[in-house]
Amino acid sequence: RAVLVLNGPNLGRLGKREPETYGSTTHDDLAAQLIKVGAEFGLDVEVRQTDAEAEMIGWLHEAADYSIPVVLNPAAWSHYSIAIADAVAQRTADLIEVHISNIHTREEFRHHSVISAYATGVIAGLGLDGYELALRKLAA
Ligand code: DQA
Repeated sequence: RAVLVLNGPNLGRLGKREPETYGSTTHDDLAAQLIKVGAEFGLDVEVRQTDAEAEMIGWLHEAADYSIPVVLNPAAWSHYSIAIADAVAQRTADLIEVHISNIHTREEFRHHSVISAYATGVIAGLGLDGYELALRKLAA
């Protein structure tokens, strides 16, 4: 079963980006780990990252067209992108929103996600484990 893990802007810099908030694991290491764990759950996981909103919207359309479940970290887009929210609203399979940090304990502008209303569920503040937990749910 195919699953897409889609990471938004600045997440390609995991490992060097504010490690006190996002940890020291790189995006490549995260991707390798999720592919491995996903395979254990019987999932064929593909991990993608982009800093370009148009590219992310295209991937969400692809997921909708082929009914592919998604684990999405919309990163900063969470807080303001109605275009990403509209793309998520078109989903035809489960979509779990993941945030590495607990957005509710951080700056006020991070407390609200415009995506969450259209997601199956949301995981925040559990670090990179959030991605694995989302995959476990999608495999169940
Ligand atoms: C994030 C939280 C967002 O507020 C931030 O813009 C990110 C990452 C997280 O994973 O904790 O880029 O989505």
